[in-house]
Amino acid sequence: MKCRKCGEKASVHMRQHKLALCKEHYLEWVPEQTERFIKKYQMFTPAEKILVAVSGGKDSLGLWDILIRLGYQADGLYLGLGIDGGINYSHESQSLTEKFAAQHDLKLHIVDIEKEYGQPIPVLAEISHRGHGKPCAVCGLTKRHEMNRIARDLGYAVLATGHNLDDEAAVLFGNTLNWSSEYLLRQGPALPLADGLARKVKPLCRFYEREMTAYCVARGIEYIYEECPFAEGSQSIYYKELLNQLETTRPGAKLTFYLRFLEARKSGELFIEKDIERAHLHPCEKCGQPTSAPGMCSFCRTMEKVSSVPAS
Ligand code: AMP
Ligand code: FES
Ligand code: ZN
Ligand code: ZN
Repeated sequence: MKCRKCGEKASVHMRQHKLALCKEHYLEWVPEQTERFIKKYQMFTPAEKILVAVSGGKDSLGLWDILIRLGYQADGLYLGLGIDGGINYSHESQSLTEKFAAQHDLKLHIVDIEKEYGQPIPVLAEISHRGHGKPCAVCGLTKRHEMNRIARDLGYAVLATGHNLDDEAAVLFGNTLNWSSEYLLRQGPALPLADGLARKVKPLCRFYEREMTAYCVARGIEYIYEECPFAEGSQSIYYKELLNQLETTRPGAKLTFYLRFLEARKSGELFIEKDIERAHLHPCEKCGQPTSAPGMCSFCRTMEKVSSVPAS
């Protein structure tokens, strides 16, 4: 297989695009595509300050690298979750994130959940009795809340995460299986600014996970290979496996699934855009972020439960 641009030996072959590229041209293609998505979905402009949520994994470190190469003003945010799982997961991912920031002379904000809320994520999950014995629900809730709080407090115009196509297609698959229309209406590459919520964008939402791996390897970015130790056996991993089986026999199926959904929603074929949900939101009594629950938001309610139980 030869590179379409220069005819040299190709090192990355993207069956879904019928495109093969050598390392050098692949490293040009990825940022070019990202720039195209940023403009297409009106994510942000070079004048705006971006906060990139970096976990130390290939997607978010790759994203930070691409945004900097494209000349955007992007600072990082790392959330210390306090997850060990026998592999020193949080510690390792934090070191790799700090190393990347230092190598490129970038600004990185580090927020440690245990310092902020008294306990690491697994303990917060245990004492709040949320999530059926797994910390993932409390972890997801906390990450969303903290990313939003910090973006808002530090005055960033927009918050960027490293979600890739495999992530987005798996979420879409789950939401479609349940016909969760509220979630389907909210899923997309760019969520507009709402009262109390930062604008959220996913510039990598059209890249396959393997494309991000190839990018990081070609760029020599050191990232954490392990997934979160609690992710094993999760529903989202199961959906990703199913979609990968589909992709093997029908290259491009994942991308089509996601892109056709975006198109259908935009043209109003799928749902009549209703604003009921946003209309029902009001500021949480404690933190001020929007919530549909009466009184406090679910994050603050969880933390309230945690602080009323003495740590063992
Ligand atoms: P996940 O929910 O683990 O699939 O991660 C999705 C995205 O959330 C990543 O690409 C990051 O942008 C962000 N993220 C996940 N974990 C962290 C973390 N500990 N600190 C900062 N951002 C994170
Ligand atoms: Fe949060 Fe795994 S439980 S990253
Ligand atoms: Zn080439
Ligand atoms: Zn709250």
